[in-house]
Amino acid sequence: MTRRACVIGWPVEHSRSPVIHRYWLNEYGIDGAYEKEAVKPANLGRFLEELSGHGYVGANVTLPHKEAALGAAGAADAAALAIGAANTLWLDEKGALHASNTDAYGFVTNLDAEAPQWNDGVGLAMVLGAGGAARAILYGLLAAGVPRILLANRTKAKAEALARVFGPQIEVIDWDERAAKLSACGLLINSTSLGMTGQPPLDIDISALPGSAIVADIVYAPLLTPLLVESAKRGNAVVDGLGMLLHQAVPGFERWFGVRPHVTPALRAHVVATLGET
Ligand code: ATR
Repeated sequence: MTRRACVIGWPVEHSRSPVIHRYWLNEYGIDGAYEKEAVKPANLGRFLEELSGHGYVGANVTLPHKEAALGAAGAADAAALAIGAANTLWLDEKGALHASNTDAYGFVTNLDAEAPQWNDGVGLAMVLGAGGAARAILYGLLAAGVPRILLANRTKAKAEALARVFGPQIEVIDWDERAAKLSACGLLINSTSLGMTGQPPLDIDISALPGSAIVADIVYAPLLTPLLVESAKRGNAVVDGLGMLLHQAVPGFERWFGVRPHVTPALRAHVVATLGET
């Protein structure tokens, strides 16, 4: 029988997940399907209760449902609980709904793949932004052993709330201090939406950043954000946001379809080719 999964969002049209999962279904010759499901927030609980009735073995969850999906699941992994949000769901053989968050895994696995030296004694990292993406990244960096993280956000109270979740390894700094504090950082991460097509660029003077530092952006449209272009020009290793998106999809696909898929240059090229479409 055809195994089916979906991405649930509101709106959902922009989601790249179908492109990734359908590529793998085709690549591995699997009898499976991956759909988009536009579900209003008020209907999410009922939709998840009836996930199997809708014909699905599992789902990805995107905005604005990630927190509610965690609440709806009967079981959750450590990452989902710490991040307070789920992006991957599956039904076990008894029909119980399980929740996972693979964003931290995707972010760190992409760093491992694109800048394998990133964790060789990175003493201090700086994360810009304090939304859901930042929360997943903080969890991932701490789990990977990064000892200290500077966290800057326009709205400082949101950064302080994240620091309370993750503890004393997170040091909140003022948004205006971001440039000056770069001199001791081995890793700089933009987790804000700045630099995305249609948004202003991230406004930061990176002249104090060490040349050996790695710069990562979660924005993937454009692939090379103004931050990454400027960083690459001065010789910093740069990691774009597309890889996180590709790697976060791996655990869900394996769970639903029984094959652990590979993130390859061909998959990347395939997804890049669709980026201009919406
Ligand atoms: P996500 O969950 O995808 O991370 P989000 O919760 O909307 O998205 O967070 C977006 C991040 O981009 C936030 O850190 C936001 O800062 P605020 O918390 O102050 O809103 C940041 N951001 C968006 N526009 C910004 C701007 N013009 N200047 C500085 N930060 C900005």
